[in-house]
Amino acid sequence: MNPLSKDSDNKKNIIAKYNSTSSFYDDRYRNIQNSKFKLLLRDFKFDNKIILDAGCGTGLLFEFFLRSNQQIHNRKQRYIGLDISWKMLKQFLYKINKVKTIKYVNLILGDIENLPFREEKIHQIFAVTSLQNLYDIEKGLRELFRIGQQGASLNLSILRKNLNLDKIYSYLKTEIVDLNLIRLEKVEDVIIQGNLFKKK
Ligand SMILES: C[S@@+](CC[C@H](N)C(=O)[O-])C[C@H]1O[C@@H](n2cnc3c(N)ncnc32)[C@H](O)[C@@H]1O
Repeated sequence: MNPLSKDSDNKKNIIAKYNSTSSFYDDRYRNIQNSKFKLLLRDFKFDNKIILDAGCGTGLLFEFFLRSNQQIHNRKQRYIGLDISWKMLKQFLYKINKVKTIKYVNLILGDIENLPFREEKIHQIFAVTSLQNLYDIEKGLRELFRIGQQGASLNLSILRKNLNLDKIYSYLKTEIVDLNLIRLEKVEDVIIQGNLFKKK
């Protein structure tokens, strides 16, 4: 168990950091994030119903879906953007409100390490450059596994800097099948994809 104060101090700092950068985040990071989305989505199929974007920020991934004409307009689909910074979410909300026809997006102010969902509710999970912010990445991953359905696709992009990749990888191997890892010199994140395998 982590000492609560260190964990909550870390969260307060993260919230303050992203609240203060939210207004210029897109201008500064759009191109760099798009290059990660391209890698994540190269073989991706939208055949399921509920997508969670964990640490969605200002909604750049959602914008990318819309622009690349993915079948995100399917009425049965639901896109949930969850973030710990209300100002990042506000930027996302502003974008959704501009396109009045979008009715299938829900934005939630929440913490990846304590997700406000019941077990096995989500079909496709994304976390793009958000997990490295966590005090305890494994705790966040356990939460993502808990709320994912059997076979749910897991699509992670994690900043490599200071990441203990061997530790994360050996943990993921116990929970994920078809595990695929992409590490490119020119991309600052490591991309990890696979499907949840829940031992019953
Ligand atoms: C580098 S930004 C990435 C945003 C978005 N995924 C993108 O690709 O542009 C990291 C995001 O993770 C969010 N975040 C950090 N810690 C979080 C946590 N514990 N729970 C939920 N979101 C978190 C931050 O508020 C921020 O919006």
